[in-house]
Amino acid sequence: MAEGFKSPVTVALTGASGAQYGLRLIEALVSAGHEVWVMISKAAHLVIATETEASLPPRPALLAEALSERFSAAEGQIRCFGREDWMAPVASGSGASSAMVICPCSTGTLSAVACGASNNLIERAADVALKERRRLVLVPRETPFSAIHLEHMLSLTRMGAVVLPAAPGFYHQPQSIDDLIDFIVARILNQLGIDHQLMPRWGEGASGSTVGD
Ligand SMILES: Cc1cc2nc3c(=O)[nH]c(=O)nc-3n(C[C@H](O)[C@H](O)[C@H](O)COP(=O)(O)O)c2cc1C
Repeated sequence: MAEGFKSPVTVALTGASGAQYGLRLIEALVSAGHEVWVMISKAAHLVIATETEASLPPRPALLAEALSERFSAAEGQIRCFGREDWMAPVASGSGASSAMVICPCSTGTLSAVACGASNNLIERAADVALKERRRLVLVPRETPFSAIHLEHMLSLTRMGAVVLPAAPGFYHQPQSIDDLIDFIVARILNQLGIDHQLMPRWGEGASGSTVGD
């Protein structure tokens, strides 16, 4: 854990649609001054290439450089770990503590985490977060959900994780896709207890309206 930054937050992007949510989350954490530990699955790289204009190299060191440049991060603020980087701090409960967000979370990774598979570093880091009772937020994106997906989400919720589906509301009258992305990222930051200005908190809107949650 580097000095000079707020507590590390681990962000894993997996191969569900909605790579923009994960990238925006990294950006928001960087601008809030947090150290950010990033893992991007192979399928997530394909989704990123399909859904965004970003061109991100798979190798962790180059990926950290590319993300740092993209989000104007300070040196050392973003660290990236590979699929089998078992020496990374997130791989063990004795490593430095960090909250973890899997955003977006594929149903494949959801299932692996619910079962404790730990076959790659993302799954292992989530397993560590669960056993150490650390904050773990999963942002699945699929529709409709099968009974398997729903059972895994229920199991994870019962284990103490937060399942926060990528299902933005519309009551803030979004004007753009960015507004919809920020809706979800704001909810994630709320779960982590991190202040943000992405959208007003309930009851703090300028209009004083009474729209629902
Ligand atoms: C463009 C694209 C979009 C996808 N969208 C979803 C999705 O929304 N939800 C999902 O669970 N899987 C989705 N998948 C399938 C996953 O990427 C696939 O199951 C993969 O094995 C997940 O691996 P990972 O969990 O290691 O990232 C998508 C794949 C591609 C290429």
